[in-house]
Amino acid sequence: MKDRYKTQLGRFAAAGQDHVLGFWNQLDDAQRARLLDQLEAVPLELVAELGSQLKDGAAHAAAPELAPPDIFPIARSSQQEAQARQARERGLELLAAGRVGYVLVAGGQGSRLGLDGPKGMFPVGPISGQTLFEIHAARLEAARERWGAPVSWYVMTSPANHAATQAYFAECDHFGLGEENIFLFQQAMLPALDLTGRVLLADPGNLFLAPNGHGGTLEAMASSGALEHAAGRGIEGFSYFQVDNPLVRPADPLFIGLHAEAGAAMSTKVIPKRDAAEKVGVIGLVDGRFGCIEYSDLSPELLEARDEGGALLYRAGNTAVHVIDLDFIRSLTDGGLSLPWHQAKKRIPTVDRAGARVEVDGVKFETFIFDALAASERSVTLEVDRALEFSPVKNAEGSDSPATTRADLCGLFAGWARECGCVLPDADGAGNLPIEVDPRRAEDLDEFRARLCEGLAESGGEAPGHLYR
Ligand code: UTP
Repeated sequence: MKDRYKTQLGRFAAAGQDHVLGFWNQLDDAQRARLLDQLEAVPLELVAELGSQLKDGAAHAAAPELAPPDIFPIARSSQQEAQARQARERGLELLAAGRVGYVLVAGGQGSRLGLDGPKGMFPVGPISGQTLFEIHAARLEAARERWGAPVSWYVMTSPANHAATQAYFAECDHFGLGEENIFLFQQAMLPALDLTGRVLLADPGNLFLAPNGHGGTLEAMASSGALEHAAGRGIEGFSYFQVDNPLVRPADPLFIGLHAEAGAAMSTKVIPKRDAAEKVGVIGLVDGRFGCIEYSDLSPELLEARDEGGALLYRAGNTAVHVIDLDFIRSLTDGGLSLPWHQAKKRIPTVDRAGARVEVDGVKFETFIFDALAASERSVTLEVDRALEFSPVKNAEGSDSPATTRADLCGLFAGWARECGCVLPDADGAGNLPIEVDPRRAEDLDEFRARLCEGLAESGGEAPGHLYR
């Protein structure tokens, strides 16, 4: 321990950050060992670079030139319909041949939702009470059953929630998907800095660490061996999705097929923005490169800009669902990935020099997966129906909250049941028709009609709800 201490003291002193060891004499052996583990994992060169970016202030480059991307739309011409049919075939072949791996990112902290544990353990099934992890697993099982698509599921956690996620997967018997088909890997954490670039402590024995953003997925896939594991299984590309959206369809033959047919390296599913004010990033071309333009980077004129048809020009709302080629990730990570760092200014609970608890203005640093789009020469932007595919749980209340997600799920399933003339239950206290369809049984109206509609128990509206599974 003495040698480790000396080494870290030397490193951090050379970087002008040795205050992180300022409480060493007050720590017991276990606390000392834990702090050394944390210090050894800090990339001090990067921290210095991020600190100097802070001190210099954001260097404002000239305003970028923006353009909307070509969108493969929901309303298709007959030529696009033919293209979609062919793409679906190709996607199905790739899925059935096991060429597609699934990447779920679940390393975030869910701070807006106010959770302590992994967000994936949050229950959202309106009747079943199924958690986000269970619903995603059910979709993968559904793909395996329907198309014989083997499951290779790569799940990113962070050191803050890895053990809890691992324990939950074990407790759920890996959702029947087979432990050997699930590869959990951890993203890296970075210390938060104060506005002068000083590394912040959470308390005398711990750094204030935060996950390095979903852009950290690419690096973590390479360093954890997930990429080579996938290559060994014959996987050529990944369906990437986020833990918070229970409507996501990771095994979508159309999306996977369009991406492959276009020879794209990274592609994105988008939803039409509800209106100009909706606070969602939009997919577009930034100085001729693909990217996601933050809501806050669009001036009021650009937010309101319309195309000839009168639709919003920048309407391709990012759902954070991507297809990403394995070779693309390899090429990005081979030479050391350099996605741009984004700063999130926060009040950070820390300790002052005397060890007293205080809050200071500080910055967390993250990279974003969509910034990798800039390196993709070709990219498909597929428009999908929000009601069918997108309802993330982000906030504890209000928009994008458990209440809106449950309402969206019930609304979708009730629509199918109504369409098929099923007896509908009474609305529950929240005003939702309590209906839930297990994705293993039906993923869309056609499947619902074909597989579930007949033989439904007539509840006469008395039953608390229908759970179709
Ligand atoms: P969000 O940006 O919504 O963040 O992540 P979050 O951490 O879930 O929630 P807040 O901001 O603390 O309230 C979108 C997706 O990216 C994953 C999240 O787990 C979620 O699936 N993510 C985010 C990571 O895997 N790692 C990160 O460092 C950040």
